[in-house]
Amino acid sequence: MSNTKAVTPYGGEQNEKKKEVASMFNNIAGNYDFLNHFLSMGIDKLWRKKVVKIVNRFQPKSILDVATGTGDLAIALLKTNPQKITGIDISEGMLKKGKVKIKELKVEDKIQLEYGDSENIHFEDNSFDAITVAFGVRNYQNLDKGLSEMFRVLKPASPLVVLEFSKPSNWFFKQIYFFYFTNVLPFIGKLISKDSRAYTYLPESVRAFPDGSVFANKLKEAGFKSVKCTSLTFGISTIYEAIK
Ligand SMILES: C[S@@+](CC[C@H](N)C(=O)[O-])C[C@H]1O[C@@H](n2cnc3c(N)ncnc32)[C@H](O)[C@@H]1O
Repeated sequence: MSNTKAVTPYGGEQNEKKKEVASMFNNIAGNYDFLNHFLSMGIDKLWRKKVVKIVNRFQPKSILDVATGTGDLAIALLKTNPQKITGIDISEGMLKKGKVKIKELKVEDKIQLEYGDSENIHFEDNSFDAITVAFGVRNYQNLDKGLSEMFRVLKPASPLVVLEFSKPSNWFFKQIYFFYFTNVLPFIGKLISKDSRAYTYLPESVRAFPDGSVFANKLKEAGFKSVKCTSLTFGISTIYEAIK
């Protein structure tokens, strides 16, 4: 609700969220990939594969991976054999890590990572055949603006696929999950990343995120049609598919 306190990485106001998010991801960029796979026990890779499978149905030539971070989804999307994948992010630290990976894989001709804000995307209307976002929308300062910008740069009849954490629905599983998420994960996250807030912000932002049908409605309000939600791994994550 509108009177609830903003959930931001370092406790600032909602209008400072973008700056804080960029700075937090700059701080943890060096350990991000390791912690991601370690703390999720590798499940994050399976979730990204599911996104790739959905995108593959559309055989897009050009893909925009928003909030690309270190480029894991952009790299996984190579399986769909597009002509070009563009990844944008507001964290220079994350992009730097991603560029090293892309260079090592020798796929610079296919994937281009660049600075870009999802709430003010620097591309023309109707530019891409598909858009993906993995674990990004929860971090947007202005979610509605981010969704309408993705709608704008997507070509008509093309898909948006969003992967994001959600809250498990089963009561028993939810207790175990949030215990791990609010106690174990921040402890290990802080120990390794040295950022005391990043892995406390993570469960806080998941709790605050309007997941499931609320997010699906936001997609419809932004103009998307045929919105579909698929819950993954007891509802820890959800894939949202939508068409412009
Ligand atoms: C949890 S990481 C996810 C990275 C990657 N998609 C993955 O699956 O590992 C979230 C990323 O969203 C980026 N981000 C947050 N707000 C953004 C915005 N407004 N525009 C672009 N990127 C943003 C952050 O900088 C960060 O790299």
